Amino acid sequence: MEIIHLSAECYPVAKVGGLGDVVGALPKYQNKLGHVAKVVMPAYNCKFLYENEFETVYDGWVKVASTNYQARILREKTNKLGFDIFLVHIAGLFDRDGVYGYNDDTERFLAFQITALDWIAQWEHRPDVIHVHDHHAGLVPFMVSNCYQYAHLNQVPTVLSIHNAQYQGQFGWDKLHYLPSFDLINTSKLDWSNAINPLASAIKCAWRVTTVSPSYLEEISHVANGLESLLAQERGKSFGVLNGIDNEVWNPQKDQMVTKTYSAKTLESGKKANKDELCRVFNLDSTKPLYTFIGRLVGEKGADLLPDIFYNALAQSDGEINILVLGSGDTQVEDRLNEITQKYPGKYNAFIGYNEALSHQIYAGADFLLMPSRVEPCGLNQMYALRYGTIPIVRRIGGLKDTVIDIGDGGFGICHDQTSVWDVGHAIGRAYELYGDQKKVKEIRKYMMSIDHSWDSSAQKYIEIYQM
Ligand code: ADP
Ligand code: GLC
Repeated sequence: MEIIHLSAECYPVAKVGGLGDVVGALPKYQNKLGHVAKVVMPAYNCKFLYENEFETVYDGWVKVASTNYQARILREKTNKLGFDIFLVHIAGLFDRDGVYGYNDDTERFLAFQITALDWIAQWEHRPDVIHVHDHHAGLVPFMVSNCYQYAHLNQVPTVLSIHNAQYQGQFGWDKLHYLPSFDLINTSKLDWSNAINPLASAIKCAWRVTTVSPSYLEEISHVANGLESLLAQERGKSFGVLNGIDNEVWNPQKDQMVTKTYSAKTLESGKKANKDELCRVFNLDSTKPLYTFIGRLVGEKGADLLPDIFYNALAQSDGEINILVLGSGDTQVEDRLNEITQKYPGKYNAFIGYNEALSHQIYAGADFLLMPSRVEPCGLNQMYALRYGTIPIVRRIGGLKDTVIDIGDGGFGICHDQTSVWDVGHAIGRAYELYGDQKKVKEIRKYMMSIDHSWDSSAQKYIEIYQM
């Protein structure tokens, strides 16, 4: 099959979070299965754009609001990612640093989607499926089946993957004329709560809808920021497919970013070398258990509670634990997390910012990884932790519930039911007790590293969904 993925992120070109990891891996695994999967994404000002060679495959114009923008699509020449990557280059909209967060994001992502479709509409053949990810590509299913200029694409199946229903990309009806023309009788397919809602429109118009874990599919029919009734209505065409991980990028045996590579056999010495180095760099005590957090510092991740959780844990443990944080987001949370370093030097540290290599070093060197998420559509961090022999401490929610089993139930992680200072504190205490039993810790680590969370099986599930 020929599969076209449309996404705002794709690792290693541009990544803000797990969406980038998924779109950088799933197509590769689909190609391994004998399909032809390609990715189309915006050409941000990024290293990848300047360090690689491209050929222009499309040269045209795109009109959004009253402005005509020159739009080109560039194909990276070598297929070095394991799939063809096409970058939509629109001067004035995407030649900026950063992926999201601009006032004209509506115009930017509309221009991206329209340009991608203008190009695909010129092909002599049709792709077998267009797979769109999140709201940034959410108007594509509507446009493919309703806009006159894409009439000959209207039999191309479209699939929406919801990575996070919190972000929907809504904008006002005054911008309706930004879309290519269509029969106004179909306007309701764009509407949700009196706004144009790209995510809701994709849920209505896509042939199939997927969520990134089975539990999240159940949860969003109850709590999905206003989309509950729509999701319940479209349940028949919806599937929960658990994300996988890219076993080549996340491989402790070959990882170039860690201090010392290791396998399940050399796990103890490998993890020790990584932990020692991490503790040296961050002024921590490598003889004590190391708890970590990696992620966006936002409410969904429970980040607002982290400062209190850490103050309590550090006070109660009487210097017997270390904590290291890597993250960025809410500036108030960032400031509070930074303050703890002054109060507990040698026991606590935080790196506020985004650092891909450091994330690998932490997965490799930590004893425990905390994920006290309020919402977690899938979560990849816990799967990376498992692969690197780091015990996850997670809230039982979404994809965390689908991937981590508590030690009390014969599993390998520590789970708690609520995102609260008390629940997480209690879980930290249970982890500390576990750490005291090093024989058990070794067994658990070995077992975790043997779990296969690669994309092999989920990549195949998507193919089955496309063919339904
Ligand atoms: P989300 O997409 O909701 O942020 P996921 O668990 O799916 O959560 O994926 C997060 C991804 O982003 C992982 O690859 C994680 O290692 C990475 N990540 C998050 N924050 C940082 C950071 N500050 N520095 C480096 N990597 C980060
Ligand atoms: C979103 C979700 C996260 C998921 C990721 C990749 O960012 O918040 O849980 O793992 O997408 O699907």
